[in-house]
Amino acid sequence: MLSRIITAAIATRAVLACDSCYGEPEHDVVLTRHVRRMQPDAQNATSGPKAPLEWGQINFLHTTDTHGWLEGHIKEQNYGADWGDFVSFTKGMKQKAKHLGVDLLLVDTGDLHDGAGLSDATKPNGNVSNAIFENIDYDLLTIGNHELYVTEIAYETFTNFSKVYGDKYLTSNVQISNPATGQWEYIGKKYRYFTTEQGLRIMAFGVLFDFTGNSNVSKVIKAAELVQQQWFLDAVNYTEPIDLFVVTGHNPVRRNDTSSTIGKVVDAIRKVHPDTPIQAFGGHSHIRDFAVYDTKATGLESGRYCETLGWLALSGIESSGYGTMAPSGVPNPTRKPIPPKANATSSGASSSNGTSDLLVARRYLDWNRLTFAYHAEGSQKYTTFDTAKGKNTTNEITSYRQSLNLTSLYGCAPQSYCQTCKPFLADGNLFGLLQTALSTVVINETRKDTPRLIIINTGSVRFDLAKGPFTYDDSFIVSPFDDAFQFIPDVPYSQASKVLGILNAGAFQKKRDLSTADFNFAPVLADRDICIDPPLTHASGMAKRSNARIIRRQAADPSPGYTTKDDFGTDGDDTIHKAIPRYSQPNDLQANASFPTDGSLPETVDLVFLDFIASYIVSALNGADVGGNYSLSDVSYYLPKEFTTNSYLPAYAKVAWQENVPDCPVGTGIGSS
Ligand SMILES: *[C@@H]1O[C@H](CO)[C@@H](O)[C@H](O)[C@H]1NC(C)=O
Ligand SMILES: *[C@@H]1O[C@H](CO)[C@@H](O)[C@H](O)[C@H]1NC(C)=O
Ligand SMILES: *[C@@H]1O[C@H](CO)[C@@H](O)[C@H](O)[C@H]1NC(C)=O
Ligand SMILES: *[C@@H]1O[C@H](CO)[C@@H](O)[C@H](O)[C@H]1NC(C)=O
Ligand SMILES: *[C@@H]1O[C@H](CO)[C@@H](O)[C@H](O)[C@H]1NC(C)=O
Ligand SMILES: *[C@@H]1O[C@H](CO)[C@@H](O)[C@H](O)[C@H]1NC(C)=O
Ligand SMILES: *[C@@H]1O[C@H](CO)[C@@H](O)[C@H](O)[C@H]1NC(C)=O
Ligand SMILES: *[C@@H]1O[C@H](CO)[C@@H](O)[C@H](O)[C@H]1NC(C)=O
Ligand SMILES: *[C@@H]1O[C@H](CO)[C@@H](O)[C@H](O)[C@H]1NC(C)=O
Ligand SMILES: *[C@@H]1O[C@H](CO)[C@@H](O)[C@H](O)[C@H]1NC(C)=O
Ligand SMILES: *[C@@H]1O[C@H](CO)[C@@H](O)[C@H](O)[C@H]1NC(C)=O
Ligand SMILES: *[C@@H]1O[C@H](CO)[C@@H](O)[C@H](O)[C@H]1NC(C)=O
Repeated sequence: MLSRIITAAIATRAVLACDSCYGEPEHDVVLTRHVRRMQPDAQNATSGPKAPLEWGQINFLHTTDTHGWLEGHIKEQNYGADWGDFVSFTKGMKQKAKHLGVDLLLVDTGDLHDGAGLSDATKPNGNVSNAIFENIDYDLLTIGNHELYVTEIAYETFTNFSKVYGDKYLTSNVQISNPATGQWEYIGKKYRYFTTEQGLRIMAFGVLFDFTGNSNVSKVIKAAELVQQQWFLDAVNYTEPIDLFVVTGHNPVRRNDTSSTIGKVVDAIRKVHPDTPIQAFGGHSHIRDFAVYDTKATGLESGRYCETLGWLALSGIESSGYGTMAPSGVPNPTRKPIPPKANATSSGASSSNGTSDLLVARRYLDWNRLTFAYHAEGSQKYTTFDTAKGKNTTNEITSYRQSLNLTSLYGCAPQSYCQTCKPFLADGNLFGLLQTALSTVVINETRKDTPRLIIINTGSVRFDLAKGPFTYDDSFIVSPFDDAFQFIPDVPYSQASKVLGILNAGAFQKKRDLSTADFNFAPVLADRDICIDPPLTHASGMAKRSNARIIRRQAADPSPGYTTKDDFGTDGDDTIHKAIPRYSQPNDLQANASFPTDGSLPETVDLVFLDFIASYIVSALNGADVGGNYSLSDVSYYLPKEFTTNSYLPAYAKVAWQENVPDCPVGTGIGSS
């Protein structure tokens, strides 16, 4: 079957690179089912929440790193809800909170751009997705690094987004040069002091990690400097009473994460208020995590990409005149935060000195309708769940997906391909597919018979590819970047064949300094400094922890998904899943084509690679072990500049994935076979 596809591909490949690769997609796959819920083509979840949520004196719903995924995950059952469903859900939850006599706050911790078609297919990026996002009436929001790479987006955030949310948009350490005055101004507010509906007095900050890849129109003040600034000290030592500090941040909550600065802010508050509860909400590293800093301070991080909705409940905050500590008819938080022993949280953790009555509950919700309906209504009936505004938002998303051509179909992906759930190049591994795709479509017609090696970095890929329609939208989701293909002709095979090993040894790409971002979406490329901008793919570090446990027995066979371990243990996931395995992948991937059919090796090859790694390729070729003598002047474009990393999968889908078009069979999601 595969060989048939490849033969077909080879037959037509000559024309590919030149004309049909990056044109408009040909088929439209919009299914006109009249179901006014989720996106019409999305799927239902098959497994739902394990139990009702614990409700405390104050409760939070937390989103982070949504990266434009407001349509939800069309081809993954676990995450099929869209932003309209979320709009309905928050309305229901706010009503429920009122009914229980407690507070519910909605928090977002940034990175609204770069990740899916709804944000990335517009100019400027985010123009449509931000307007849709704004249907949620958040109580606190803060800025992410993806709001700051590109000047135009930074200004859009300043002139539009921050104004929509006013006092609620916090950028305690991020300023922008106001184009009207030339003065540096905070993009949002430095802090928010407010009293909740139920009477709790809150001081909130929004602190971006010490990010340095921003365009020059913004300024990120490092946390070490922030905590010494007079306005910050004054806000911490406020003239009015403070019952609870809320530290939001596009910033990992695990304080020993090298890019996290949340610990510094918590420590600075503790110096003045040894006994006041502090609740942090973080993001950026794309994981589910919960960290206990001391007996009155914890931090929640709620994943990424509209896969996870975080829930946090607190009881036992002392406050004059505050109502219900333990709302009735629902479970309540029961656990005291006890920081893990010494080395775990490490590095000079803060500590509250008081004996604490604070009780905390945290939960990571899967982003689907079953979850939302269950928690909003305590039942699994869909009938009364939707609100007019929620349905309207859903419909708007549907119509934008059509007008932006996001649903336009290139082909049917016959199976799911993941980045890390299978060993490198194994069946179902995305890089094995990319290898085939590169050999099939990266062809310069005048040199089509010249043997070639094609090298890309695995970080040029951003997300898994799920079985089902492969659309214009998916071309952003999987491989969005616009790196072109360059080459050096006629390199001795003995030299060219050594390059991959040298690149994978890591000496070259990792050194690249990304603090001066010199191309559009530089930061999301694989050569980024992992500490500055973690992979936008599957999370590093803590995710390994998350995935490595055996889950407890459940009646039905649990579906694959998140299995999280945090400072409260392994019971944080709202829906019980079985773990998705995780295999590490090399930095770079090599494909070959037009090699001698008799199995012999060619004398020379065209060495083809992505433009932004050209200097690493030249250095590798010139290394002592290789013995080349090349310079960048030997490098030229192998294909037109417009044919990029965003073009080759669509090109491949058009030749290899035409079976079943336009009625593509859809799978259940990543990690299921
Ligand atoms: C999802 O479930 C709802 C309610 O049971 C049902 O009306 C709908 O048809 C289902 N959708 C799909 C795609 O199965
Ligand atoms: C979208 O772009 C238009 C034109 O530049 C602008 O007026 C509008 O405010 C933008 N909307 C959002 C939500 O960014
Ligand atoms: C922001 O953009 C939205 C959508 O385009 C528009 O309705 C709104 O007026 C804009 N707000 C500001 C403050 O520019
Ligand atoms: C940013 O850099 C550009 C080009 O180098 C320059 O024209 C502009 O004045 C700089 N802006 C700021 C706020 O420094
Ligand atoms: C807090 O402010 C009060 C005055 O309102 C002052 O007396 C006190 O020294 C301040 N404490 C700190 C730690 O700055
Ligand atoms: C704590 O650190 C010590 C010394 O660095 C180490 O030997 C010990 O195993 C660590 N304990 C834990 C629980 O990590
Ligand atoms: C950070 O702390 C966690 C436990 O809280 C531990 O598992 C992890 O190894 C630590 N990481 C580093 C880099 O110290
Ligand atoms: C905690 O520290 C504060 C300020 O130093 C002090 O007023 C308070 O009595 C201490 N509480 C306990 C239980 O030690
Ligand atoms: C739905 O959205 C449209 C504009 O997109 C607006 O005119 C209409 O009032 C909205 N309806 C509801 C129920 O929110
Ligand atoms: C969508 O595709 C149609 C038909 O190919 C084209 O006319 C239109 O300009 C496209 N729209 C966008 C936003 O790309
Ligand atoms: C060429 O690629 C094929 C398929 O990926 C692989 O099996 C083969 O080993 C490669 N040949 C060389 C010489 O790298
Ligand atoms: C193919 O490569 C040659 C250089 O050998 C170059 O002149 C030509 O522009 C390339 N073709 C395309 C379509 O880029």
